[in-house]
Amino acid sequence: MTIYNVGSINLDHVYQLDHFVRPGETMASDDYQCLLGGKGANQSVALAKAGADVKHVGAIHHSNQAILSQLQSLGVDTQLINTTEVPTGHAIIQLTKQAENAIILYQGANHALTEQQIDDVLQNAQAGDWVLLQNETNLIEYVMQKAKQCEVKVAFNPAPMDAELTKQVLGLVDLLIVNEVEAMDLIGTQDIASTIKAFPQAYPDLEVLMTLGKDGVCYFNGKEHLQVEAFSVQAVDTTAAGDTFIGFCLSALMAGEPVTKAIRRACAASALCVTRLGAAASIPTQQEVTDFLALQND
Ligand code: RIB
Repeated sequence: MTIYNVGSINLDHVYQLDHFVRPGETMASDDYQCLLGGKGANQSVALAKAGADVKHVGAIHHSNQAILSQLQSLGVDTQLINTTEVPTGHAIIQLTKQAENAIILYQGANHALTEQQIDDVLQNAQAGDWVLLQNETNLIEYVMQKAKQCEVKVAFNPAPMDAELTKQVLGLVDLLIVNEVEAMDLIGTQDIASTIKAFPQAYPDLEVLMTLGKDGVCYFNGKEHLQVEAFSVQAVDTTAAGDTFIGFCLSALMAGEPVTKAIRRACAASALCVTRLGAAASIPTQQEVTDFLALQND
C-alpha cells in the first residue's frame, strides 16, 4: 500500500529570538538556520520514518536538488517531485525561548503543481492506496476528485486553514486531521464537546482526528469517539509537531494498527519532535519512539 503525499516543500529560515518582532522594530538575531520544512515534506519524512511507503508529489526550483537528496536519505521517494523555474517555497520562522513560533509562508513552487503531473501520478495508483494533502499546495480539489475516481482514500490536513475551501472539499475526504480551533471553525461550534457531536451529524462518513494540544487527541466518526492523552515534555520548538503526529498516525493506521495504539504512538513521536529544533530534522525514528514509549511503561 502506497501513500502519495501531494504536499509542500519549504526551506525554513529559522531565527531564534527573545521575542517576536514588533511593529516598527528591527531586531538582530545571531542564531539562524536554514532547514528542510513544509508541512508536506515534514509529513512525508514522518511517514517514511514510521515505515510507510511514501511517494512525495510536489515541486521545487531546479537549483535546489539538495532537497531531493535529503528527502531520499530520510526514506522518501522523490521521483514524483517536479523541478521548475518558480522559486522553492520558503518559511520565515521566528522562534522564542518559550518555544513559541510565528511563521510567514511564501508558497512559490508549491503552487506550481499541474493537472498533468497529478494525472500522471494517479494513473499508477491502486485501489486502497492513500493520497494525503495539506493546504499548502494548489489543485487540492482536483487531486481529491482524481483520487476518488481511482478508488484511492483521501486524508486531508487543511492547514493553514481556509474554512471555505475545506468545507467545499469535505465530501471527498475519508480522514480529516485538524486541531480543535480548526474543527470548531469548520463546524461553527464554540467548544470541544459540541464539536464531537456536531461533526458526525454533518459528515457521518468522515473519520476525524482532532488534536487538542496538551490534552491529547480525539478520534471520532459517525459511530464512535475516543480520546488519547498527550505526553508531557519540555518543549524547545513545536514546529512540525502536528506533521510528525500525522505521519506516524497514518503510517500505523495503514499498517492496520488499532486507532488508539496508532494515536498513542503518534503522540509519542510528536512529543519527541518538540524537544528538538527544526522541522524535518526534529522528527524521531521508529526506534526512538519505541524507546520513549518503553520509558513511559507503555
Ligand atoms: O508545520 C510546520 C511547517 O509549516 C514548517 O516547516 C513551515 O515550512 C510551514 O510550512
